[in-house]
Amino acid sequence: MTRERKTLHIKTFGCQMNVYDSERMAEVLAPLGYELVKEPREADLLILNTCHIREKAAEKVYSELGRLRQLKDGRARDGEDTLIAVAGCVAQAEGTEIVSRSCIVDLVIGPQSYQRLPQLLEQHAKARKPIVETEFPAEGKFEQLPQGRTRAKAPTAFLTIQEGCDKFCTFCVVPYTRGVEYSRPVIQVEAEARRLAEAGVKEITLLGQNVNAYHGEGPDGDAWPLAKLLGLLAQIEGLERLRYTTSHPRDMDDGLIAAHRDIEALMPYLHLPFQSGSDRILKAMNRKHTRRDYIELVAKIRAARPDIALSSDVIVGYPGESDADFEDTLALVDEVGFAQAYSFKYSCRPGTPAAAAEDQVAEELKSERLQRLQALIERQKSSFNAGFLNVTMPILLEGKGRKTGQLVGRSPYLQPVHAMGQEDLIGTIARVEISGVGTNSLDGDILRLAQSGPERDRLL
Ligand code: 5AD
Ligand code: SF4
Repeated sequence: MTRERKTLHIKTFGCQMNVYDSERMAEVLAPLGYELVKEPREADLLILNTCHIREKAAEKVYSELGRLRQLKDGRARDGEDTLIAVAGCVAQAEGTEIVSRSCIVDLVIGPQSYQRLPQLLEQHAKARKPIVETEFPAEGKFEQLPQGRTRAKAPTAFLTIQEGCDKFCTFCVVPYTRGVEYSRPVIQVEAEARRLAEAGVKEITLLGQNVNAYHGEGPDGDAWPLAKLLGLLAQIEGLERLRYTTSHPRDMDDGLIAAHRDIEALMPYLHLPFQSGSDRILKAMNRKHTRRDYIELVAKIRAARPDIALSSDVIVGYPGESDADFEDTLALVDEVGFAQAYSFKYSCRPGTPAAAAEDQVAEELKSERLQRLQALIERQKSSFNAGFLNVTMPILLEGKGRKTGQLVGRSPYLQPVHAMGQEDLIGTIARVEISGVGTNSLDGDILRLAQSGPERDRLL
């Protein structure tokens, strides 16, 4: 293994799990001498960490590769070699197709294989031909990843605790690209969380495609539910805030709901996708919950934690969605009231059951519905934020804002908050009085530092 300085650039697409994977790839490559650089054109190794969730994902990767061809040729003229790797879910889904369509790609690595990057690079150097690795190896990826992270890059961090999905919603590629559900053992998660806290991280977001289906093996040999894991992590010194995402309504058990009442470090925010407000469409989607189930679940969650901010994913234009079905979706959003939500036009994913449906909804109709839904969501976001005017909240200051002298942080409800302040406040939790409210963020004035330790003062 050579250890001379080499440069690495990772371009990350898609969800937070890819952000986590990209960070871990950088850690896997660090012992080989790879240092991260901001500019792709300075990189000896360029990784595209791709996402496959919606349409044209693969096409976007191919056009990105088209652009990188010029970069690679340009560097070659200067006598520099650029290795190009495609990682993530497009790598998993397309496999060898990538190297047959693009001759500049040296490595194709699925999301379950990146711990083997050093060996694959060595293999590539020897073989001098593209390497494609999209197996789901029997040995665990996480066990083989470096223990790393002695210095926090930011006061917040992601920690993947669960991967894959067994739910098979009919529109979704995840069960095919990320495989079956897997939960990391409790001891492993706890060790990684402790390392993050020791490195200065104040807030951890636990990640999983179906994070609330977590059932990792506990030190007692039992499968631990997410609520129990959260209880353990909440005791780690220095960790002030915990979050988790993404959850399925079916896995929102009473223990987890109670955790939102009982665990102070667990922030009052929950991303709980419902996808559609129509029972007919929910059934076709294989969601295994009804509109009523969702409403009742929200009522239980709000009884446990009245101030909780709810978020969701919503799809419009699923095959066969009628005007009445769509009205049901609008009515559900109206009834529940969200702090924010993500909405998407249904996009056909080859290989998923819904792709074969004959009653696909016309593109213009999807766009029209999306616009109406997004207008409603925007109104809800504004009114949620408006309720915080003149309220004082504990804000975790995460970094510098766009304006000089400005800092940006997050409220317990995940709202971005801007406030003027000294840079040395980054990484602390400050009490901020909200002086301005917008649809996407809040402005405030820093009053003083919050008490250290768990955020006792829940200021409403
Ligand atoms: N079309 C549109 N949206 C989709 N999502 C997943 N698959 C599709 C698809 N084929 C959305 C879902 C999911 C989010 C991550 O992406 O709403 O919750
Ligand atoms: Fe996809 Fe989520 Fe459904 Fe799993 S639960 S299939 S990840 S939408």
